[in-house]
Amino acid sequence: MKIAIIGGTGGQGLGIAIRFVQAGEEVIIGSRTAEKAQAAVDKVKGFLGEVKNVKAAENADAAEEAELLVLTVPLAAQKSTLLSIKEAAKGKTLLDATGPLESAIGGSPITYLDLWDGAAAERSARILTESNVICAFNNISSAALMNYEEPIDCDCLISGDDVDSKVVASELIEKIPGVKVIDCGPLERAKIIEKITPLLIGLNIRNKTQFGGIRITGLDN
Ligand SMILES: NC(=O)c1ccc[n+]([C@@H]2O[C@H](COP(=O)([O-])OP(=O)(O)OC[C@H]3O[C@@H](n4cnc5c(N)ncnc54)[C@H](OP(=O)(O)O)[C@@H]3O)[C@@H](O)[C@H]2O)c1
Repeated sequence: MKIAIIGGTGGQGLGIAIRFVQAGEEVIIGSRTAEKAQAAVDKVKGFLGEVKNVKAAENADAAEEAELLVLTVPLAAQKSTLLSIKEAAKGKTLLDATGPLESAIGGSPITYLDLWDGAAAERSARILTESNVICAFNNISSAALMNYEEPIDCDCLISGDDVDSKVVASELIEKIPGVKVIDCGPLERAKIIEKITPLLIGLNIRNKTQFGGIRITGLDN
């Protein structure tokens, strides 16, 4: 599948890009500038060797070409970034990793920031009215994603309103070794999923690690 990582030049986007490249998907790393996107592609090749299934583009071009989008920008950049890809994202699924953290307004990354729209993913859905927004990747750290030679010891809690999109997204995400997808229901459940992120960041700080994650147990029949 062709996947665009919108704002894929930071830790979270780069980590997701690496994992999907390893899984054999066609990855387009997006950025506000082609140069920065290319630098991120060079980093991926620095880690994985001369892989052919990753390339660089500006965000709107990446979104246009891809079949599925992943948003990995800070909350403060969420709206402007989504507006820049809104046309290209029509009819497509967007996996939203945006964390509503107080750090977006100069505060703490372990404090949840209440938004008018509810969850950050609900805010994305209100902006991208003709796309299928799924809350995903909020609870997996960039450190775990970037540790690409190891499986990830974390579930990926997702929520979204379009069932078919969630099935496609789940199959894709579970190509990442160690990751199990937990479908938490409609998009409004993102309010809960996104609150786990500042909890995990706080636990990581207290325990001097970057690999704290979450597992939901007992659901298998
Ligand atoms: N890091 C984690 O462990 C983690 C875990 C779970 C969820 N998340 C969430 O994932 C998202 C990305 O995290 P990150 O740590 O990768 O973020 P980041 O490194 O701070 O930013 C990612 C990219 O977003 C773009 N960006 C940054 N500021 C911008 C602005 N003011 N306007 C437009 N674009 C801007 C930049 O891309 P260009 O300059 O190339 O355009 C940047 O490289 C966040 O919402 C975060 O809460 C992160």
